[in-house]
Order: sequence, then structure tokens, then C-alpha cells
Amino acid sequence: MDNTIAGVMPSNFNTKPVFEQDSIHIVNGDSCNPDLFSGEFIDLVVTSPPYNVGIEYDSNDDTLHYQDYLDFNRQWILNTYKWSRPHARMLLNIPLDKNKGGHRSVGSDLTAVAQMAGWKYHSTIVWNEGNISRRTAWGSWMSASAPYVIAPVELIVILYKESWKKLLGSKKSDVSRDEFMAWTNGVWTFNGESKKRIGHPAPFPRQLPYRCIKLFSYVGDVVFDPFLGSGTTLIEAYNNHRIGVGVEIDKGYCELAEKRIINSRSLFAASEKKK
Ligand SMILES: C[S@@+](CC[C@H](N)C(=O)[O-])C[C@H]1O[C@@H](n2cnc3c(N)ncnc32)[C@H](O)[C@@H]1O
Repeated sequence: MDNTIAGVMPSNFNTKPVFEQDSIHIVNGDSCNPDLFSGEFIDLVVTSPPYNVGIEYDSNDDTLHYQDYLDFNRQWILNTYKWSRPHARMLLNIPLDKNKGGHRSVGSDLTAVAQMAGWKYHSTIVWNEGNISRRTAWGSWMSASAPYVIAPVELIVILYKESWKKLLGSKKSDVSRDEFMAWTNGVWTFNGESKKRIGHPAPFPRQLPYRCIKLFSYVGDVVFDPFLGSGTTLIEAYNNHRIGVGVEIDKGYCELAEKRIINSRSLFAASEKKK
């Protein structure tokens, strides 16, 4: 492949995608499997791995011992690094910390894991979900004996493979002046997504991959999500003229992602026609 042009080739896939249409590819598989893909094809990773907070996913255990959780993350992060092109970026949506079952600095621990795997640290966006309804535990109410501090935010850690400056790809950016000015302020405020509405236990809102894709990739780049879930990243990749590759371990969530992408496609086609 010409290294200056983004793209994914059939030879990059060692497992046949369960869904493949236009520029979108879904693989039903395990992101920890180092043989899932061959070669370097990723320009931008946008993803949210399981948070290990006891969510009832259909195909994976979300209650690992903390060290096993870090080992699991090390494996998929190493794989993703290997499949990334030299100028690739990774936008990693992870919790700031964890209070249940022991206090852990998840955000900084996973950032360290990513750096040990080779990714370089650039900066961090704080996503203010504006969600204070989750607040139930105060520790010691109005007493200094053992108060709890809980920040209703998540992180989007920005990492890159070799060089921060993007020298490869179409060089076509589609971010507007106002979007660029607003999104380069590293505090992003928008609501989370409803699990019930989407039919998945932990979807992120479309705003999240939408902003990451427009701010950090060129039109035509390959966007990769190793934890595709309900398909949100690929919906935005498709609707913003990128190539999308997603991996999801659960067959049912692959089917959900497929349906959501097809539905967004018809809405997108209708809005393009009106222009
Ligand atoms: C936090 S959710 C991602 C949600 C996604 N961002 C969305 O908007 O729907 C994590 C997803 O990772 C999947 N998963 C867990 N372990 C996996 C693995 N080893 N390989 C691929 N997918 C995995 C789960 O089934 C779940 O759908």
C-alpha cells in the first residue's frame, strides 16, 4: 500500500468481517488476539474499553481483579499499537478513577499502561457528563472523618504512535472554525447516552466520536474501535466520510451495531440529498 494514502486492505483482515459495506467493516472477535489483523492500517483509534465496574455485558466479565484488568488492557493496547500507522493517534475514553471495591486511579494507571506499550502521551480532555444523579454515597456526611469526593467526569486521553504532526493522509480537514475553537478547549460538556434507548449497557454518545474524528483525523482516514459495542464510532466514521473498522466480542452487539449503522446511513443519505 502507498504509505501516504489511508486505507485498509483485505490482506489486513485475518478474520472475515461479519459486516462489510462501503467503507465500514465489523469484525466479531477478541481485541486481545494479536493475530486478528496483519500490518499497519489504523490512522485514529477512538474507543472506550470496559470499565470493570460490574456492568452486565453479554460476553465478557466486568468484575476482574485489578491486576487482571490492567493486563487485559495491556494486551489490546499493544495489539492496537502494532496495527497502527506511524502517525496514528489514540483517543482513549476511560474513567478518572474508581471508588467501588477499592479506590483506584484508573485514568493514570491505564495511561501508564499505554505508554509502556509504546504510545506517547499528548494531553487529556476532561468530559463533563453533567451527571450528578449517580451520587448516593457521601462517606461521612458533614464530617471530616471519611468524606467521599466523586468527580462526575470521564477522561479522553490523547496519545500518538510516533509523531504528533500528521504528515500522511488526504490532508483534508472538515472541522469548522467554531468547532475547532470550542473543542481545543480540553473540557467537553455533553450528556451521556441512554442505555435503554440504544439497547446496550454502556454506549457513549455520538458527540464523543464525532468530535474526536473531526478534530484528530483527515477525511478518508481509517478509524478503529476495538470495543465497538453498539457501533457509535463507526456511525460517525461513516457519516463523516472516514473508513471504519470495529471489533466486538459479542455477536448480538455486532448485530446491533450493524442495524444502527444502516439506519444512520439512510438518515444521512436523506440529509445529503436535501443539500
Ligand atoms: C464500554 S463498551 C463500548 C461501547 C461503545 N463505545 C458504544 O458506544 O456502544 C465495551 C464493549 O467492549 C466489548 N468487549 C469486551 N471485551 C472485548 C474484547 N476482548 N474484544 C472486543 N470487544 C470486547 C463489550 O462487549 C462491550 O460491547
